[in-house]
Amino acid sequence: MVSTTPAYRITDLFAERAKNLAPPTYGTELSKIVTVSFAYGLADPILFPHTDLAAASAVVLAEEAPIALNYGPPSAQLYEQIILRLQAKGIAADRDRLIIGYGSGQILGLLPDVFVEPGDVVIVEGPTFLGVVTRFVHAGARIITIPVDELGMDVDALEVTLNDLKKQGIRPRFIYTIPTFHNPTGATMPLFRRQKLVALAAEYGVLIVEDDAYSDLRFRGETMPSLATLDQEGWVLYVSTFSKIIAPGIRLGWACGDATIIERLAMFKSEGTVGPFVSHVVARYCATGKLDNHIQELIACYKHKCNLLLEAIAQEFPSDVVALRPDGGFFVWCKLPPDISAKALLMAASEHGISFLPGTRCYANGQGDDAIRLAFSFQPTQKIVEGIATLGSVLRGLR
Ligand SMILES: Cc1ncc(COP(=O)(O)O)c(C=O)c1O
Repeated sequence: MVSTTPAYRITDLFAERAKNLAPPTYGTELSKIVTVSFAYGLADPILFPHTDLAAASAVVLAEEAPIALNYGPPSAQLYEQIILRLQAKGIAADRDRLIIGYGSGQILGLLPDVFVEPGDVVIVEGPTFLGVVTRFVHAGARIITIPVDELGMDVDALEVTLNDLKKQGIRPRFIYTIPTFHNPTGATMPLFRRQKLVALAAEYGVLIVEDDAYSDLRFRGETMPSLATLDQEGWVLYVSTFSKIIAPGIRLGWACGDATIIERLAMFKSEGTVGPFVSHVVARYCATGKLDNHIQELIACYKHKCNLLLEAIAQEFPSDVVALRPDGGFFVWCKLPPDISAKALLMAASEHGISFLPGTRCYANGQGDDAIRLAFSFQPTQKIVEGIATLGSVLRGLR
């Protein structure tokens, strides 16, 4: 008879950090098929610039195939195009200060390789984009959460924390923040908070990682300077992506900051994680000058969807559900009344084919059962209206 308990188990070979991981459960607990998902910040596929990307691909295949289809680094023209975009935002960018990755997620995920020993402190927002923060957790970082309100990170609370840590002789490795059209709350940090945040970073000698995935998608209000433009001393690593303004499937993002950080990140980034071909195609597309017009089309569409979602919420949700109104981005964050749990709401909504992100999926410290994130980016307008009507009746039914 074959032994069912082999002398050697494959799992004994796992590193400690891999042994202790729980398999992802999100979604599997939902019994019904989802017909309207507000869960993920997927781009609207109708808006992908298919024709222009096809034209750029044809040019690359005709003129650059020997380089674009071989092993190699990302296209030199893509660096130039990204540098131009950064400079247009007032960010000091040049080739030595820029790294291109397989989406901004890859670069953010490399940060622990450069900065974090197990037990080192990393400061994040609560709520935050857990997709990235999970990577910090896996590296053994001790995560400290600073609350976010409708004006973004509470920088006064951050100051108290930095001061407390300093008294204990602890210097955090970095502060991860999404100051513009925050994921998940949609909040945008006003200038006075940005200035204070940058000043605190310099005072306490802590790196700020500014995740700016959404700022091009502003549909109302005044443009805010990025933290990188306010920083005079090199304490900001600015990170962004083409995912929200061209297409996530091209997997191209970048970081811009101190050249010594960029150099270290590059040492940990495996070769081949940016496809030369796609980098050439995107460089060609950007060189046509069509991207800025395309962004205007995206803004018009996402603005419409966001307004529709907010109107539907106002009509369909109980009046004590408080929705934050974003000035851009992909998400509306709703605070639930004390008697409604986000997780219970998700279970009930799934019975009606509706899904969303419960707030618990947005905190590194277990909070969040009092809020939900609704992504309006992906669903067609009719489904937004129908989905919110159904979710409204589920909410009322829970009472
Ligand atoms: C705030 C934020 N940062 C980073 C990312 C990752 O983007 P990318 O597709 O460039 O990896 C996302 C994706 O949803 C995001 O919402």
